[in-house]
Amino acid sequence: MLSWVETSLEVRERYCHDWTEDFRFLPDAVARPRTKDELQLTLSYAYERGVPIIPAGGRTGLSGGMLPVQGGWVISLEKLNRILAIDTQNLIAIVEAGVITQDLQEAAEAVGLFYPPDPSSRGSCTIGGNIAHNAGGVRAVKYGTTREYVLGLEAFFPDGRPLRTGSATIKNSTGYNLTQLLVGSEGTLAVIYGATLKLLPRPHHVRTLLLGFPDARCAVEAVIEVLQSGILPSAIEFMERDAVLYGEAYLGAKLYPDADKFGGLLLVEVDGNHLEALEADCARIEEKALAMGAMQSWFAQTAEERERLWRLRRCLGIAVKSSGPYKEEDTVVPRAVLPDLLDYVKALGARYGFRSVCYGHVGDGNLHVNILREGLSEKAWREEIPMAVEELFRFVVSKGGAISGEHGIGWVQRRYMKIQFSPDEIALMRQIKRIFDPKNLLNPGKLFPD
Ligand code: LAC
Ligand code: ZN
Repeated sequence: MLSWVETSLEVRERYCHDWTEDFRFLPDAVARPRTKDELQLTLSYAYERGVPIIPAGGRTGLSGGMLPVQGGWVISLEKLNRILAIDTQNLIAIVEAGVITQDLQEAAEAVGLFYPPDPSSRGSCTIGGNIAHNAGGVRAVKYGTTREYVLGLEAFFPDGRPLRTGSATIKNSTGYNLTQLLVGSEGTLAVIYGATLKLLPRPHHVRTLLLGFPDARCAVEAVIEVLQSGILPSAIEFMERDAVLYGEAYLGAKLYPDADKFGGLLLVEVDGNHLEALEADCARIEEKALAMGAMQSWFAQTAEERERLWRLRRCLGIAVKSSGPYKEEDTVVPRAVLPDLLDYVKALGARYGFRSVCYGHVGDGNLHVNILREGLSEKAWREEIPMAVEELFRFVVSKGGAISGEHGIGWVQRRYMKIQFSPDEIALMRQIKRIFDPKNLLNPGKLFPD
């Protein structure tokens, strides 16, 4: 056996779950390769023996993408965590897959550069996991998702043969775009060892504004007004009242002034190099919001205040999770559909008897709909709620949206793929999977409906 592969129950238990609900599946072993060669050896060793391989990053996923649902080996990339280069002349970074996202953000900032993708889990998720799920985060409205920053990949086929895609350039019109095929493929096609990433110059200034609205619908209606104002904020985040209250309860502190007075809040951020221009932008956004019914606004005056506003926003996922069983649906729609989406969610809850807590990246149309189990019977939870989710996704798709904006399909959303794709389209994806992985050993049981 390979020395970096462990089979003790204690280690296997640590790798039997991610952040998705309360699912647990014990792997047969956990491999933690320390070098590229060890990663390659693990793959060829497992492939020869017909062992399923499940690549894992920070295990912060919310769609069960790394759950070893059919046993096999979890390959954790966590020890392959070197930033190999931050190239200030070419504005690129070359990293191993296990680099923690926040570590890359900070390393880029230290030399005046900027890696914009910013998932809430940035302190523990990895670049490899972000690429595998095309992670989004709070800055996608202006800067796009992880996909936009991946110029090239160094990966392995499931049997251990190397696979290089893309280049270290901004442009590339050479052949099929295998880089972007691997981005978001959720560890089903290849194992990503490293990436060449695009960086930007770091904006010198950031200004943050919190806006309180009488109700949630009013808050998301204002998003369109803001986007039409000629200003493109770097973040527009929405929180309905209950989301803020869960966050404050989780942190044990009241971080937002009078949060319970507002049915919905928007957290808006602008960034750039000219402070006066940014302040003028903020004033304009505030004016638009007040005209749309906002009752109150606050500007973060100091870095500490700004940090406080974001601390609450970033903890919402974990805050809702810690409150009890729930399901998180990662809807995304064209932005003008958001008010109707919100109404649809609440009407669906009234019909099926569930309460929901909604928040998310409304600047890019991405609303996280958290369905709380609370007093629902086992039968309702297992049989009726999936029907409600199906209705929700049918609505989303009928409006031009998608069933996941950033969390991916993984294990928990597979059954809904049929809503988004025709049988021919799913068959095409299965064929692609077979070309990469004819033995179906790489992250089996994911992405495709049964
Ligand atoms: C967030 C995670 C749950 O937006 O995607 O906080
Ligand atoms: Zn999110």
